Amino acid sequence: FLGVLGGTALAAAGCGQYAGELLVGKAPTPEPFRVPLSIPQVAAPVAPGRYEVTQRVARVEILPGLRTEVWGYGGTFPGPTFELRRGAPATVRVRNELPVPTSTHLHGGVTPSDSDGYPTDLVIPAGGHAGGHAGHAARMTHPGEVHHEGARDYHYPVGQRAATLWYHDHRMDYTAPAVWQGLAGFALVRDEEEDALPLPAGERELPLMICDRSFGEDGSFLYPRNHEGHDAAYMAGVEGDVILVNGAPWPVAEVTATRYRLRLLNACNARRLNLRLAPGGRFTQVGSDDGLLAAPLEHDALPMSPSERYDVVVDFSAYPVGSTVTLVNTLVDGAAGNVMRFVVARRAKDDSVVPKRLSRPPERPAPVATRSFDFRRTDSGWTVNGRLYRPGDLLARPRLGTAEVWRLTSDFHHPVHVHLAHFQVLARNGREPAPTDAGWKDTVDVRPYEVVDVLARFEGYRGRYMLHCHNLEHEDMAMMADFEVI
Ligand code: C2O
Ligand code: CU
Repeated sequence: FLGVLGGTALAAAGCGQYAGELLVGKAPTPEPFRVPLSIPQVAAPVAPGRYEVTQRVARVEILPGLRTEVWGYGGTFPGPTFELRRGAPATVRVRNELPVPTSTHLHGGVTPSDSDGYPTDLVIPAGGHAGGHAGHAARMTHPGEVHHEGARDYHYPVGQRAATLWYHDHRMDYTAPAVWQGLAGFALVRDEEEDALPLPAGERELPLMICDRSFGEDGSFLYPRNHEGHDAAYMAGVEGDVILVNGAPWPVAEVTATRYRLRLLNACNARRLNLRLAPGGRFTQVGSDDGLLAAPLEHDALPMSPSERYDVVVDFSAYPVGSTVTLVNTLVDGAAGNVMRFVVARRAKDDSVVPKRLSRPPERPAPVATRSFDFRRTDSGWTVNGRLYRPGDLLARPRLGTAEVWRLTSDFHHPVHVHLAHFQVLARNGREPAPTDAGWKDTVDVRPYEVVDVLARFEGYRGRYMLHCHNLEHEDMAMMADFEVI
């Protein structure tokens, strides 16, 4: 049943998430804290406000000595970081040279509907054709599918506040394997309010994309191939046994004994994290998914479901020079809970400060309506309000410029993400939310049998948007819904 060729014992690798699917052995587990952390390249504009990026297949070294085929924006994983400024519109031409169609979503972006990365709004590979791609790329076409041949422009007005956003593939039925294969990157929005703050910057500002992957003995990414089989592990969401930060396995970074700003992103398909610092220490949170907080908050631990971001400052002067500080995920015991390591190399001058007042986020407006969205497994699969996703099926029509309370309920952990609208968590099970729920967000972990009330603001644009579970396997199994801002 396990079908392991080669000498690597699958069970010993501690994964077994989709053992039934594997026909190859697994790559040896790399030594933690050997590979240096790298920071994704910043995308260079081809003209003011214009970018071009080509999605292509590349072979890169992720595990030392092995090559991994990735599907990357610009052929890298993570893709390049887009540095955007509030008030400076950007147009990104995405060219597709992959074997599959794609749709790119700027997660957390306040984006016109046409550029939002709707799942059937596709860039078809140059020279390719709409359907009938070979092997695992085979797919059905969906009613209302839009095809752009070879490339398309996405328009981002960037009217929103400074925030840690990310972008990733969002194609119907195929988001999870495409993101697993590498189609994700950061987009950082900056503004004057943030510029004025003396937060750590430059080399002391680190975007950290955390994700998990499994590797075959030849270095390839392992992903269940016959996910139509819907086995139990696939139903729950696919987890990998190697943690990558910015595409490197359990990396190590040298830091000075000063403050650093860490922009943390959980980019896992399905794995939740609970981050802590070992041997101890605190995160000073300065921002949530969609921008700076009014005032900093101190946390010992950061619970992060897929796609949540935390913008935090860590003060490494609290540790002796020469010591190590490990970022760990406490939801997994032992070495498998490691994420990455910092080595406090030397003292250095530090002019940064975390001010008591950070920003003036938008106030909470009064809601004009309440709606309920239930995320649940039914006989037909993972559903929203009892329905499997069908493009164009609208579950809500909120009005532009208003706010609504959306009551989210679930039977499992579902990280619920709303496009366009940013929200604040009002209550969990009728009680005050956790301090880590603070700020304007676009993704919230709705835990098993929980009732989470959020206040969502519909600002920016009219048109068709979506809400969905950001467990990417659940998303591909149709746990999505459309709404239209009118
Ligand atoms: Cu990050 Cu609709 O997704
Ligand atoms: Cu889910």
